[in-house]
Amino acid sequence: MDSIWSQTCSLRDRQPLSGGRKTEIAVIGAGMAGILIASALQEAGARVIVLEADRVASGQTRNTTAKITSQHGLIYRKLTDTLGRDKARQYAMANEAALAEYRRIIVENGIDCDLENQCAYVYGSDAKTLRTEAACAQALGLPATFTADAALPFPVAGAVRFANQAQFHPLKFLASIAEPLTVYENTPVKAVEDHSLVTERGTVTADKIVFACHYPFVNFPGLYFARMHQERSYVLALEDASFADGMWIFADREKNPYSFRHWKSYLLLGGGGHRCGENSTGGRYDGLRQKARKWFPQSREVAHWSAQDCVTADDVPYIGPYAPSRPDWYVATGFQKWGMTASMVSAMLLRDSICGRKNPYAEVFDPGRFDAEAVAGVMEESGQAVKGLARRFFQIPAETANKLAPGHGGVVFLDGEKVGVYKDEDGTLYPVDIRCPHLGCQLEWNPDEKSWDCPCHGSRFDRYGKLISGPAQTDIHATP
Ligand code: FES
Repeated sequence: MDSIWSQTCSLRDRQPLSGGRKTEIAVIGAGMAGILIASALQEAGARVIVLEADRVASGQTRNTTAKITSQHGLIYRKLTDTLGRDKARQYAMANEAALAEYRRIIVENGIDCDLENQCAYVYGSDAKTLRTEAACAQALGLPATFTADAALPFPVAGAVRFANQAQFHPLKFLASIAEPLTVYENTPVKAVEDHSLVTERGTVTADKIVFACHYPFVNFPGLYFARMHQERSYVLALEDASFADGMWIFADREKNPYSFRHWKSYLLLGGGGHRCGENSTGGRYDGLRQKARKWFPQSREVAHWSAQDCVTADDVPYIGPYAPSRPDWYVATGFQKWGMTASMVSAMLLRDSICGRKNPYAEVFDPGRFDAEAVAGVMEESGQAVKGLARRFFQIPAETANKLAPGHGGVVFLDGEKVGVYKDEDGTLYPVDIRCPHLGCQLEWNPDEKSWDCPCHGSRFDRYGKLISGPAQTDIHATP
């Protein structure tokens, strides 16, 4: 189902690329990050082309909850402890600067995008932890306080409150920002070699190249596949659900892992998060619906959708040079669940980096960082990848295709072969090769989305095998 943003704002079509082009900057990806980066560079005087595999904002941007906030869960205590106060402050101030930049752009351009000032809250069951987080954030210069006054439909010990944060309608904003940009839709980039971007519709040659395509698909150099995994989460839009103002998110997953925000008269209830490729039992939307019935019995669901986030080894996005061996490539990825602010941070950082200006916040986001903490994260990520591969080689499917219920899918034996199969309501079978075309992990069926999801790095394919999102770049083949 479309998100409430897609249902209430459509973006104009753009032509695909036709033939070769030369430009100063080529940006891969026309989501919020790609469009903001291109806009900032064009404003700075550069000639920019944006190449989009699908449509503008067709990825996570249309599925976000669209909070613009420097409050990112309980991150400031952690960053202060692991990276030190200086880098934690860089992270904090970069996100506050992003918030201010959104406001500037919206006001100066008169963009009608439902911008609202709101407080952001992270709630939890341990008051001491919340107080410590509030104190840490405050010490870094953030507008944070502890409050015991958390108006939630379940008991909590309190919340960390960030004043003067914001929320908006992401597509209304993006439609305006993208308007003066040269964007080619339905133009997937198949390969990047030095200064060339190869597509089936022509080759673009660029002095500088920016990967803003959610998950970078060039494996070597960069090794981003070993430094990130992806997580999915689910949202319901509810009508007639009475709830306090503010944007609310949980501090830990163990108890009541839900998020809340309003848009107009609707309440957006989020939750059900899991690592991509690990939802074989399904029921994520149903779990949210049960809570909606319990907490907001008068409410009515008007939309449901899901989103996917890249999670880095140290919880800080990778924004900056792609790899030492590619000095003219740049990357913006690993936004965790904070894609709106991280997109703007990316635009400011990469504009300055590409234009040769010093940015005081660049160091903490540098993709070249690789300290002991990150190494531990890499090892853990590699372990997950191996787990996915091991499943592929050693597990024998428990099901056969004729046992699948109509409208369901699974990994089964079919004609003596281990394959993925989706059975439609008429009983027609759609078998696919369950080896992920990225690096070969075994795909898993996601019953909530009726999709094939990869547990290693989060590529996704629809029930018929068509690529939804990378790092894989191709569809999975149907088996005969
Ligand atoms: Fe990397 Fe599937 S996304 S192996």
